[in-house]
Amino acid sequence: MSIKPLIILPDPILRQVSKPVERVDAQLRKFAGDMLDTMYDAPGIGLAAIQVGEPLRMLVIDLAKEGEEPAPQVFINPEVLASSDERSVYEEGCLSIPDYYAEVERPASVRVKYLDRDGKQQEVAAEGLLATCLQHEIDHLNGVLFIDHISKLKRDMVMKKFKKLAKDKPPTRMVG
Ligand code: NI
Repeated sequence: MSIKPLIILPDPILRQVSKPVERVDAQLRKFAGDMLDTMYDAPGIGLAAIQVGEPLRMLVIDLAKEGEEPAPQVFINPEVLASSDERSVYEEGCLSIPDYYAEVERPASVRVKYLDRDGKQQEVAAEGLLATCLQHEIDHLNGVLFIDHISKLKRDMVMKKFKKLAKDKPPTRMVG
């Protein structure tokens, strides 16, 4: 088990476009486990690899509610095949943008193909929270954040706040 440090706004790493995973092997499965540990520790319901600094097209999701058995899911090289015209609104947050939430409108359902943790091709017709979560995390793989879907005025306010926070943060490394 290994918890990795989270990349926080305004770190430009979050704007990188992630590269496809070429091989699903033991090392990648271990990394997926680390991503899940990091997500549970935060805690969050979804995490993309870029949020721990790895520009790989993979993400983890667990939508189990408190008190339920964990239901970890790993999506490797996910691709949206189709989105519904019907849209839905959820209040979203992001582990890379702590303590900020905003309503985001997205397609209510999506069909996504991906490789599972065994490297097997899978397809899911997602709706509700899973549809929103998948779209939020797939956005991360393209360098897109949920604040890109809100008004410019709100986004500018968030950016300003996080730039200031980053500046005010005491240095974590002392070089003597
Ligand atoms: Ni996020």
